[in-house]
Amino acid sequence: MRGGPRVRSRSGTDLAKGSPRGWYGPGGGFVGNFSPPAMWRATTVQACGLWPFSAGSGAPAVGVPLGRHLFTGATVCGDPLSWFSRARYISNPSLFMLGMPGLGKSTLVNRMLIGLSAMGVVPLVLGDLKPDYADTVRALGGQVISIGRGVGGINVLDPGAIGAAARRIGGPAGDELRAEAHGRVLNMVAALVAIVRGQPMTDHEQSVLSASLHLLRERTPQHRSPLLPDLLALLDEGPERVRAMTLDRGDETRYREAVDPLHRSLLGILDGPLGGTFASETSTRIDPAAPAVCIDISRIGESDTQLTAAAMLAAWSDGLGSVAAAHALADAGLTPRRWFFTVLDELWRPLRAASGIVDRIDALTRLNRSLGLGDAKITHTLKDAEALSSDSDRAKARGFVERAGMVVCAGLPRSEMQELGKVIGLSEREVELVSSWSSPPGWAADVRSEEPPGRGRFLIKVGGRPGIPIQATITSAERKLHDTNTRWADTHGTAASGEGDMR
Ligand SMILES: Nc1ncnc2c1ncn2[C@@H]1O[C@H](COP(=O)(O)OP(=O)(O)OP(=O)(O)O)[C@@H](O)[C@H]1O
Ligand SMILES: [Mg+2]
Repeated sequence: MRGGPRVRSRSGTDLAKGSPRGWYGPGGGFVGNFSPPAMWRATTVQACGLWPFSAGSGAPAVGVPLGRHLFTGATVCGDPLSWFSRARYISNPSLFMLGMPGLGKSTLVNRMLIGLSAMGVVPLVLGDLKPDYADTVRALGGQVISIGRGVGGINVLDPGAIGAAARRIGGPAGDELRAEAHGRVLNMVAALVAIVRGQPMTDHEQSVLSASLHLLRERTPQHRSPLLPDLLALLDEGPERVRAMTLDRGDETRYREAVDPLHRSLLGILDGPLGGTFASETSTRIDPAAPAVCIDISRIGESDTQLTAAAMLAAWSDGLGSVAAAHALADAGLTPRRWFFTVLDELWRPLRAASGIVDRIDALTRLNRSLGLGDAKITHTLKDAEALSSDSDRAKARGFVERAGMVVCAGLPRSEMQELGKVIGLSEREVELVSSWSSPPGWAADVRSEEPPGRGRFLIKVGGRPGIPIQATITSAERKLHDTNTRWADTHGTAASGEGDMR
């Protein structure tokens, strides 16, 4: 990319090399505005017949149309699922996106959601924190489920879609699925206990919990699911099968000593900081046939870290259970095969909320190929990983970027880009280009014409290949679905997104 055209913003500020807005001569003088010639795509057979100047472009054309190549103007298409399954450009269907706030990261992922949905993929936003995706999912005819105090809850003892699939499939495959459902419920309760305690459960507590859950399932009628208060009542009662796990040897005091810490933590889930969100029936279940699903947890306050972490884990557990159920039903020939696309936006928030979360995301990232799902993770900077408390969590969080099939950078400061370069390999020119997108806009007199220079600009990196710089332009429909600057609308109704025509 060395020696490319230099850039001038609309206000005349020299920003960087390589924008389509201006060309500079060898002496550095501004020689004129440049906008890429109009381009159309067609097969070489048709294009040559219509137009003699057809040329191949180096830009990938498989997947969701994302924008135009910043220098050639060619259409650039891409998304983790298409690049993994159809184009085979990447070895696992995952995307990691980094960039300063307000540059359009969530907007680009919303575009992927829309495009993938049109290809028959089911988008799953399992914990929308702002919400960035609820309106898009609604517009796609999908299901939006709200979770929060007094808004809606999830019964963590309900195996959800996976339990229903086990019953439908029956036989040994059904039993296998039932065992998986048990494991998911056990992990979920263990995760909630770890969140309220601030440390993981012990191994013998897990055995007690597992035996209690089995017994509870046997005692509860098929058509309903047990609830956390039922689990507490069971521990209180102390049936023989549960006692056997505590090695009480017939001594009541030994039994109580063994189960009281678990009992206390479960009481904490019901009445403590989680405020009963997980104590009663699931308010709205995930619809296995929905074309898209968004679990909206935006009503949970930002400072409510424990509830955020718990709601996010419960949403993943439920959502990924639905994915496992869908695959099991497809394996049994009962439903058509579906692929899924999960989005973890504002990753830094759940990462900091509880240490167990890093492990969950880590497991998801490693399993996504076998689960038939692609995923996109979005955060601001690599420093979000550095802010984690333990060395192992930091290493795992860095691993998300290292293992991502596609890394997409929106504007980032130079120091950040250099750090990122150590992980994914970036040329000096790429560092320079992306850091220029993080600079503020010029001091234009007409404030409405000034936008952050990096808004809608992204560098797509795959392995050691040179990055593909793109400019994404959004449609008015997309802007209406996702304008995160609406609260900054001035008295004339013009949002800080810089568009005066959206009133
Ligand atoms: N390509 C684009 N062209 C013009 N405006 C855009 C573009 N992309 C996004 N915007 C607008 O910019 C604003 C910020 O976008 P968005 O919320 O996607 O940024 P973000 O990078 O996800 O920010 P954050 O890190 O705070 O979540 C929105 O109002 C959106 O409508
Ligand atoms: Mg965002």
